[in-house]
Amino acid sequence: MKKLFIKTYGCQMNFYDSDHMSNLLHDHGYEKSEEIKEADLIILNTCHIRDKAAEKMYSDLGRIKKNYENNNLLKPIIAVAGCVAQAEGKEIIKRSPWVDLVVGPQAYTDLPKLIEKINKNSKKKEISLKFPEIPKFDSLKFDRKTGKVSDFVTIQEGCDKFCSFCVVPFTRGPEYSRSKKSILEEIKIMTQNGVKEIILLGQNVNAWRDYSNKSKIYNLGSLIEDIAKIDEILSIRYTTSHPLDMDLDLIKAHKNVEKLMPYLHLPIQSGSDNILKKMNRKHTASEYLKIIELVKKYREDIAISSDFIVGHPGETKEDHHKTLEIINEVKFASSYSFMYSERSGTKSSELDENVDDNLKKTRLYEIQNILNHYQLAFNKKMENLDFPVLITDKNKNYQFLGRSPYNQTVYINEETLPVKKPHEKLIGSIFNVKIIKSNQNSLLGNFTNND
Ligand code: SAH
Ligand code: SF4
Ligand code: F3S
Repeated sequence: MKKLFIKTYGCQMNFYDSDHMSNLLHDHGYEKSEEIKEADLIILNTCHIRDKAAEKMYSDLGRIKKNYENNNLLKPIIAVAGCVAQAEGKEIIKRSPWVDLVVGPQAYTDLPKLIEKINKNSKKKEISLKFPEIPKFDSLKFDRKTGKVSDFVTIQEGCDKFCSFCVVPFTRGPEYSRSKKSILEEIKIMTQNGVKEIILLGQNVNAWRDYSNKSKIYNLGSLIEDIAKIDEILSIRYTTSHPLDMDLDLIKAHKNVEKLMPYLHLPIQSGSDNILKKMNRKHTASEYLKIIELVKKYREDIAISSDFIVGHPGETKEDHHKTLEIINEVKFASSYSFMYSERSGTKSSELDENVDDNLKKTRLYEIQNILNHYQLAFNKKMENLDFPVLITDKNKNYQFLGRSPYNQTVYINEETLPVKKPHEKLIGSIFNVKIIKSNQNSLLGNFTNND
């Protein structure tokens, strides 16, 4: 078989797509390889969210060219997929003429056909950026064998919210919900391949609806209930949610569905209503706080995490302080924070009042400091607690790995293992773990049950 090397940038949905691309190409004679030097086909599955992410792709393309030239290797087919492909299209080939193929996130089911064309005529360039009439989910095979115990399923793609800073509505297209039937079918097949934890993905995952059922609203809360009925599935998570789509069914699922983990990633972006308005987020800071309050009413111990952008155009010192205030109020369990990056084509890129880069850096440093403080404090609260952990992996330091219900990485000392089973059999099982130490980004624990 020929060799495929694939590099993935950006969000989890891109990683999910990459798995599907490899699976698709396997049927067309390409076997995945971790070694770029032996690749006959290289795919870069790219991200356009911030300037840095996109520039990284261009520097990687330069390195790939040097690699086959300096090592006198036969030139591999080079494909750019994902969100930079969708946003920049043929510009990529203009800037890096050694790229053979550009394929958008909705069009990658065309890959085998396009590669065949290039194999027939290596001078040909192929570009496919269409949003196909038959959504990609309806033409994919679901038998990805990733060997993972915890794995992703994309249930929703695209976005109609048009936050002023964001490229996603342009790169992924309009909001689309996959059918319930197709999602459940894929999950069934995943369970046959050993998956025990499902992470439901979407740019606005909680906007998901099953539109085939006209008589009854069937939403993310209902879907989670049905996935929980599958015996082999032991744990369910979902990401990323939008405050506007946080409905009561989903909130109640956090109380009623035991397999749904007590973790909610709900980005607020800024604590200032002025900036939220400029960002076109369509919610205020106090509306966000009300949602958190309601969620905690149903699930008191839930871990809340968020995304923040600092230095959006027009952000004043007062706006920045409002963000610090909301962090102090919610005390997020974890967060991602970014300096605003101007993206061409977005509304924010047309705004004046750009914040100076150094000031952005200072503000980012300041919010990351307090976010880290609350993360450490949240992790510290885990010490001496005892909770079930699904074992997903093992490392070379005699530790098993898993995630806490609150989404922290947990390292578990192998020597405290109560059962002497072959280790492969333990991966995929749930064990009670007592946390003995907490760090900034992880927890350390011992096995506690005596099976
Ligand atoms: N759909 C999700 C987020 C998708 S993008 C939501 O609505 O929250 C992931 C994160 O990247 C965003 O939450 C935002 O914090 C960040 N981001 C998006 N565009 C950005 C930009 N232009 N500059 C800096 N960060 C950005
Ligand atoms: Fe981007 Fe906003 Fe859509 Fe999230 S909700 S993907 S931030 S436009
Ligand atoms: Fe990046 Fe596209 Fe995901 S822009 S964050 S890869 S949706």
